Amino acid sequence: MAEIVVVGSLNLDTTARVGRLPAPGETVLGTGHSTDTGGKGANQAVAAARLGRSVAMVGRTGADDAGARIAAVLGAEAINVANVTVDDGAPTGMAFITVDAEGENMIVVSPGANTTMTVKHIERAAEVIAAARVLLLQLEVPVDVVHHAAGLCSGTVILNPAPAVDLPAGLLEMVDILVPNRTELATLTASEPATDPEQISRQLDLLPIPTGIVTLGAKGALVRTAGETTAVPAPVVEAVDATAAGDAFCAGLADAVVAGADPITAARWAARVGAATVTRRGAHASLPTRAEVEAAG
Ligand code: RIB
Repeated sequence: MAEIVVVGSLNLDTTARVGRLPAPGETVLGTGHSTDTGGKGANQAVAAARLGRSVAMVGRTGADDAGARIAAVLGAEAINVANVTVDDGAPTGMAFITVDAEGENMIVVSPGANTTMTVKHIERAAEVIAAARVLLLQLEVPVDVVHHAAGLCSGTVILNPAPAVDLPAGLLEMVDILVPNRTELATLTASEPATDPEQISRQLDLLPIPTGIVTLGAKGALVRTAGETTAVPAPVVEAVDATAAGDAFCAGLADAVVAGADPITAARWAARVGAATVTRRGAHASLPTRAEVEAAG
């Protein structure tokens, strides 16, 4: 059985590079484009596998070239894809990404087959999910699917609430570690995005979770656990593309939790994994191996 199980999305990403992100209604000329396999779920799975963990993915693609390409990439990483099912009637999820000169991005996801995953697919994977040391969840698949999976896992449940949506009653109570960014935390708490650590801590305290880790990009993360807030800095790196950095952070957390780390130690390692990811372009193409993270210092 896999140490880490990821229930989530698989997408094919098309990324355009631009000097600056366009404003609403504006056209900007790009400097090039590329495609890569991605999706928040698949990114977390590949990142965890490159850190050396045994990983199983539960998700859904279309019966098309994009789906076959993603399944091949996951297979090459030795990820168990027995529960990545194929929908004959919906296309594989697609993401349209724009990355500016500073590495910041904007992403639109057309979720396709990710949205046709049902509780039935989770039941099919119940044994694998139940045995996981860590279950990694995000919100690019239907939230009832996420809720059902969380209820099956007796290990550590990590929810990355991206993109933020209304959560069903009872889901957060099943989550051991919530990993939002500032905007997602604001949405979940019906408040404005906060920058001040005390404000962020107050927002986290509104949620029924034992541990919240708020990702802050180049500034690292804030860990709120047992009534204490700890700032975890990110290593300083030259950022070229932030795509998948949050996913790599979640995978780093999961990896450290499997190793028995406490939330603060886990977040320190996760910040290193996330930082290594922003130094390369793309989604799966940017995810580092354990040796690469360790070598980066
Ligand atoms: O988090 C980055 C990911 O978001 C991309 O790979 C894209 O597919 C979207 O899901």
